[in-house]
Amino acid sequence: MADTERDVAGLSESAARAEYQRLHELLSAADAAYFEKDNPELSDADYDALKRRYLAIEAAFPDLRRADSLSEKVGSAPAEGFAKVIHQVPMLSLANAFEDSDVEDFVARGKKFFEREAGLRLAFTAEPKIDGLSASLRYEKGRFVRGATRGDGAVGEDITANLRTIAEIPDQLAGSGWPDVIEVRGEVYMSHAEFRALNARSAAEGGQVYVNPRNTAAGSLRQLDPSVTAKRNLKFFAYAWGHVSERFAETQFEAVQKLGEWGFTINPHFKLCMNVEEMLAHYHLIESRRATLGYDIDGVVYKLDDLRLQERWGYVARAPRWAIAHKFPAELAWTELEAIDIQVGRTGALSPVARLKPVTVGGVVVSNATLHNEDYIAGRDNEGNPIRGGKDIRVGDWVQVYRAGDVIPKVADVDLDRRPAGSAPFQFPHICPECGSEAIREEGDSVRRCSGGLICPAQAVEKLRHFVSRAAFDIEGLGSKQVEQFHADGWIDEPADIFTLRDRHGPGTAQQLQDKDGWGEKSAEKLFDAIDARQTIDLRRLIFALGIRHVGEVVSADLARHYGNWRALLAALDQAYPAMERHLEAEAAVLVERARAADDARKARIKPVRAAAWAAEPAVSVQSRGAWDELTGIEGIGDTVGVALVAAFAQQAERASINRLVAHLEVVAEEAPDTAGSRVAGKTVVFTGTLEKLTRSEAKAKAERLGAKVAGSVSANTDLVVAGPGAGSKLKQAEQLGIEVIDEDAWLALVGEG
Ligand code: IVH
Repeated sequence: MADTERDVAGLSESAARAEYQRLHELLSAADAAYFEKDNPELSDADYDALKRRYLAIEAAFPDLRRADSLSEKVGSAPAEGFAKVIHQVPMLSLANAFEDSDVEDFVARGKKFFEREAGLRLAFTAEPKIDGLSASLRYEKGRFVRGATRGDGAVGEDITANLRTIAEIPDQLAGSGWPDVIEVRGEVYMSHAEFRALNARSAAEGGQVYVNPRNTAAGSLRQLDPSVTAKRNLKFFAYAWGHVSERFAETQFEAVQKLGEWGFTINPHFKLCMNVEEMLAHYHLIESRRATLGYDIDGVVYKLDDLRLQERWGYVARAPRWAIAHKFPAELAWTELEAIDIQVGRTGALSPVARLKPVTVGGVVVSNATLHNEDYIAGRDNEGNPIRGGKDIRVGDWVQVYRAGDVIPKVADVDLDRRPAGSAPFQFPHICPECGSEAIREEGDSVRRCSGGLICPAQAVEKLRHFVSRAAFDIEGLGSKQVEQFHADGWIDEPADIFTLRDRHGPGTAQQLQDKDGWGEKSAEKLFDAIDARQTIDLRRLIFALGIRHVGEVVSADLARHYGNWRALLAALDQAYPAMERHLEAEAAVLVERARAADDARKARIKPVRAAAWAAEPAVSVQSRGAWDELTGIEGIGDTVGVALVAAFAQQAERASINRLVAHLEVVAEEAPDTAGSRVAGKTVVFTGTLEKLTRSEAKAKAERLGAKVAGSVSANTDLVVAGPGAGSKLKQAEQLGIEVIDEDAWLALVGEG
């Protein structure tokens, strides 16, 4: 029997020492995964079993007990990591209304309650019900002193440090007239944009998939380390208050306006309604805007406006009588997973799509949903470690579908109790279903990609669709539908073919466009003209249109501005190639080293032999190094974009295709900035530290208008460093390299704004 299974009493002291050490590491890692990454690695039961064994060893061998014993640490439930806060005024919940008639009944109850008051008109506020976590923030003499979660309504957890990281929670109240003590209440939430950005960052690091903004916001608030919370960019709407040392308003409406004046964000859809018709109209307005709000809401809350009347109407159990939540149709639903299809995107990414038994979610019938990626379906990461409690998802399962706003429906959970007998784990293909090429998953990437490049029809079509899109070539009369059709007909395989369409299918050819269904002489001629017109194209549009991974509109514009013309860009990318390879090798070597140091060859996945071979290679030329440093030093462009770009241009088939395209084009160079009289034209400038009079983007834009290049890092190519307070390593580097350093005022003087 292995020592890891043996009863604690049966362990020798040395075996116990080893076992104690092993458990200490496992439990520490599990704690870190739970608390810091919000991504439990172990089930609660497994965790508890390990912890029990750990404590049993400590009890049987007290000498082994470490100074940093986990028995001293707070338990496995995150709530226990925080101090308790008793709410002086309980945090209540709300009764629900589902139909318009429920709201009519609610208002009628109010009228009945106050029927003795002749002529009393009951006004109600109406506002979105934010789908986040409520928090109570205590201010004493205008200073934020403590913040707590709702908890069970009576007792919450002290999460002050985490709440302080939220920009929308003021540390000091603004304005005047606030009570000496006031508990401001509201909702902490994560916007859709931030949620998407977090998932993108996580995917880029091969990390976990976050399923919905609410749970992610909850996990973010529960972090024991506030610096993790800070990175999540949470937001806060104030809508209520708890204990106050003195009355500060007569009505709900007035009170909330005051919260706004004191520095809180209040919801822009907060409205005072004079009757039930206005309340329902506002509900339907908010419902119609739901998709574009940019954050999740799950209904509308109505509150009686007059605060004295609120008190008189009173409370039932844990909810006020004077308020009600009018819910939207659910955004979560359970249904059967009928099949898993794999779609291939423009960059070759294989995306799993759930085909569902149609189900209504949030008022819309959903039959497809994303399954994110390979690891999400397996419930394990690339190295076989369980994620999300280790649930895998199989065809035939009952799955929960989540849909909110304008986001793509997602499979959010699976019910293992309803799993049909005999189901098998899904085998994620390692072959592209569209072209049969090998689909490869790179180190650190959560996505498997088809290696077929242009021979893969799915990638080719997606690339063409991107090529003709709005921000790219935007050819009138040539939308996604048309390129798809032309591709299916074999008329267009790659972007260059668009520009030979007239020669091959114009008037007088064997297969004329004008003879095709849906086309005529006029429309065909119009299309050819539109194509001809686009032979002259701006550099930034061309770069964007190529559809290179990580190269979006902003990066394309940055590149165009930096290099000015196509030839210069091409030359720079070609020159940077050897240095880029060298960079990848060095990165891989670091990985190997790290893994070795941790004595964990399994994690390395890269054969040490290869690392050794790289180390033996000669260094790359100074020119190549310079080109690479210049490229990755452009503000907004780092190593990831650099590698994607240089590699795309170096890939033979891709390069040939780009060359064929450009042969048809006249690429308009980026307009040279107006540099007459500029003292910084042609200089490479780096901004570092805090700028006090300009924002970074203002400073960058101004510098570029004056013909300077703005870089993100200091290198031998840097001419000038503008350093503000708090400047660190870049300033040091500049000093070491003997580069001129000036402060913000000197910079303003230099650019004529001082
Ligand atoms: S008022 C006494 N207003 O909904 C009134 N609650 O179901 C207490 N919520 O725990 C709440 N948006 O977390 C109110 N505009 C809003 C809200 C809101 C979201 C949440 C809050 C509360 C829950 C009650």
